[in-house]
Amino acid sequence: MSSDKSAATYLHCPKCKERYDLRQVINLCKCGSPLLVAYDLMLAAQMMPREQLRSRLPTMWKYREVLPVQDDVNVVSLDEGGTPLLPSRRIGTVRRFPGLYFKDESVNPTGSFKARGLAMAVSRAKELGVGRVIIPTAGNAGSALAAYAALAGMKCHIVMPKETPTPFLVDCRYHGATIELVDGTIADCGRVVADKCSREDWFSFATLKEPYRIEGKKTMGYELAEQFEFELPDIIIYPTGGGTGLIGMWKAFAEMETMGWLTGAKPRMISVQCRGCAPIVRAFEQGKASAEPWDNPQTVAAGLRVPAAVGDFLILQAVRESGGAAVAVSEEDMLKATFELASKEGVFAAPEAGAALAAFHNLLEAGYLHGNEKVVVFLTGSGYKYLDTLEKALNSL
Ligand SMILES: Cc1ncc(COP(=O)(O)O)c(C=O)c1O
Ligand SMILES: [Zn+2]
Repeated sequence: MSSDKSAATYLHCPKCKERYDLRQVINLCKCGSPLLVAYDLMLAAQMMPREQLRSRLPTMWKYREVLPVQDDVNVVSLDEGGTPLLPSRRIGTVRRFPGLYFKDESVNPTGSFKARGLAMAVSRAKELGVGRVIIPTAGNAGSALAAYAALAGMKCHIVMPKETPTPFLVDCRYHGATIELVDGTIADCGRVVADKCSREDWFSFATLKEPYRIEGKKTMGYELAEQFEFELPDIIIYPTGGGTGLIGMWKAFAEMETMGWLTGAKPRMISVQCRGCAPIVRAFEQGKASAEPWDNPQTVAAGLRVPAAVGDFLILQAVRESGGAAVAVSEEDMLKATFELASKEGVFAAPEAGAALAAFHNLLEAGYLHGNEKVVVFLTGSGYKYLDTLEKALNSL
């Protein structure tokens, strides 16, 4: 990795098309939409030939040219990314589905894929001189921000629902963050953060309310392409809360297509939510371009208890453009699948990952999936952060 390699050019708004300078410290577009980073992809393709990737270190920073950090001295990293793509050893055999794979994001620093987004966002914040960072979170994003803020020497404040599993609170405290617990959902936490930012000097890292977390998460898409030798799988099954994982990967596939890296079609994206909180699934089924907030959201998968997502229209757009679908799973199926992942595949994963595997089973039974297809189920986080929840669930399995 050397300096000045980034081919990032400007920030742009996918709604009103306004452009912004990369040197600006900014949250949303003036029209209220999330902002995305644009790249000179022809230049990136020249500077980063596909064949060269293998010789680079296996972290998310290997895709340096399509990442927004301008100067390497600002990279704040714990070597996130480079996670395993595991062919299913047992579930695929039992289900007569040889093309089932798991992308194991639980091995990232701080135990989830959120490390990718927050390493990137903190690096850019450092580059732009931001010193005080705040986030509303269901847990994993808070752990990740607290760790990277600690590494960067930033002051960090985390706002979480009071039901957030205890391990998230403990690790945030160990990383030196201050914590505020809110009686409500992540949406209520978002309001507390917005209010605090209007009165005090904090920079908010709320999902898609700053442009760089998605740039970290998109590296899951680059990595997957590389692991499949640039012929992407047929279907990706992804648990969706705020949606940056899914939107990020879809952005990565579009970028790689422009760079001429891909052979064959892009995958169909399946967005998975829980029945007790499924605003994206409802909007998808009703053919709507954006989602109504979900009343009284209920699920033990904290990362999926997101009643309203600022990037809802981008999630729905990605799912529809890809020819995919949005599906909801029951709490019971999710917990059974979480158990199945640990007991059959050896991965002790978060309930959100269980939701994705439960969706695989449902789609297979519904005849949506076919035995000759390649399907990747994303295991987005570790089960260790959900020990209390998973211990309770053991009694009902
Ligand atoms: C383990 C896990 N999986 C999935 C999600 C949902 O991710 P996103 O908000 O990017 O849709 C979260 C969010 O907190 C999470 O912690
Ligand atoms: Zn705009």
